[in-house]
Amino acid sequence: MHAMPMPHIAIFASGTGSNALRLLEYFRPQPSITFTVYSNKQDAPVLAKAAAMDVPVYTFGRPAFYQGDEVLEHLRQRDTQLIVLAGFLWMVPPAIIAAYPRRILNLHPSLLPRHGGKGMYGHHVHAAVLAAGDQHSGITLHFANEQYDKGDILLQAHCPVLPQDTPDSLAQRIRQLEHRFLPVAVEHLIQQLGN
Ligand code: GRF
Repeated sequence: MHAMPMPHIAIFASGTGSNALRLLEYFRPQPSITFTVYSNKQDAPVLAKAAAMDVPVYTFGRPAFYQGDEVLEHLRQRDTQLIVLAGFLWMVPPAIIAAYPRRILNLHPSLLPRHGGKGMYGHHVHAAVLAAGDQHSGITLHFANEQYDKGDILLQAHCPVLPQDTPDSLAQRIRQLEHRFLPVAVEHLIQQLGN
């Protein structure tokens, strides 16, 4: 028997944060699981929404993230066990990657290795899928390592690309997949934490 895990989870988000909010809502009935939302943008919409749910938020600039250990120290102070990159656009620095092996989950809106790498985020990804004439797209949940979009894959989920799709309509379909599978994947990782 393992003790009930009471993990603290960091969610990193740069913008709207619909995935971050989805996670907060999904785990709301489980108050033993606590969160902090981190962002590189002082005015990211996700921050106000998280604060309205009484979730602590923390913002940082490039120097704090890339020079010194301010963010890593903050993660450690909160005894953070898992990091979820949900629409977070900066590369995670090596010290944080090294401190959280297979404990940093990244969400990517395509079926990696297709349409990944630097500069491939948001609409750039969906436009590339359409330009390539792919008949399927989907999401990839993978562990972050030192290279963009290259870490081990935990889960992929597929959806069709329709002839009349625009980057917007495809993005909507992808977001539905993300909202469905991200909480499930995080829950799975939380269960593994005790093992
Ligand atoms: C998602 O599509 C995610 O895959 C990508 O950025 C988007 C973020 O959306 N990395 P949101 O901010 O969670 O609404």
